[in-house]
Amino acid sequence: MSLFSLFAYCVIMPNMKAPLNYKLCQTNASFNSDLYYTDTTGSTMQDAQRWAVNSAAHGSGLIAGFQQNGRGRGANRKWESDPGKSLLATFVFQSELIPIEPSLFPLFVGVATVSFCRNKLGIPVGLCWPNDILYKGKKLAGVLCNLNNGIFHLGIGMNLNQSEFSDDYRRPPVSLFQIKGREFDPVEVANDFLDSFFNSITMDLMLGKKWRTLLDQYLLGVGRTVHFLSGEADQPKGIIGTFLGIDENGLVQIQTEDKKVHSFATGEFAPYQCKKNG
Ligand code: BTN
Repeated sequence: MSLFSLFAYCVIMPNMKAPLNYKLCQTNASFNSDLYYTDTTGSTMQDAQRWAVNSAAHGSGLIAGFQQNGRGRGANRKWESDPGKSLLATFVFQSELIPIEPSLFPLFVGVATVSFCRNKLGIPVGLCWPNDILYKGKKLAGVLCNLNNGIFHLGIGMNLNQSEFSDDYRRPPVSLFQIKGREFDPVEVANDFLDSFFNSITMDLMLGKKWRTLLDQYLLGVGRTVHFLSGEADQPKGIIGTFLGIDENGLVQIQTEDKKVHSFATGEFAPYQCKKNG
């Protein structure tokens, strides 16, 4: 995909409530929100935080071809990608329009992202709690969720067009190009993601199609002995035990050898721990 082709989808529109330097893109008709694209920015998360409060419609998104200061989940983590190689986007949602307990929204986002990869892209990915999307143990995408002033900011980074990666990733990555053998347009993928996400909100939240059941299907590592890193990413505390799953409050349940069950709201699985369920 050349960056040139993006100009077919995204144009400067005077008087639109676009954030600085972003162009309005064509979107699918099935949802009523706007997508904006810029070739380069610091971070779409930062841009969305400045922009969303006054102007953004529910479900609107900012897409970048390149980020100079992309943020990963956890303190001091970065998300880096060469220009045009990844989906780098932040979507904003009014929390009052999403009928879910706010603390469960990040978990729901993980489930909805797996549904998108499976149903729309046809890739059998799984969910490594909280928000890593893995294909055969390799990371295809990561999601970041914040709630500010009643607005959810959903940041997604998905590897699209990389034909190879360097060795210095914490979790080995994989791209859609490597899986599917063709290139993908970030704006098209963002459109499809948003369409699928709205469908998940309608089906799984509003029509009660039980997203928790999907979570149980998608979650990786359940029943396995795992190394879990609790606490903040810069000061992790390791624990080894059997991963029992996620409880109704969204907490990770780890049972240690002494049969005690430990619950964690934050933390992450150490690399290579999210495998098919045992
Ligand atoms: C993770 O650490 O796995 C989540 C990474 C999320 C990265 C995306 S890229 C678009 C958006 N802008 C950012 O600065 N971060 C998120």
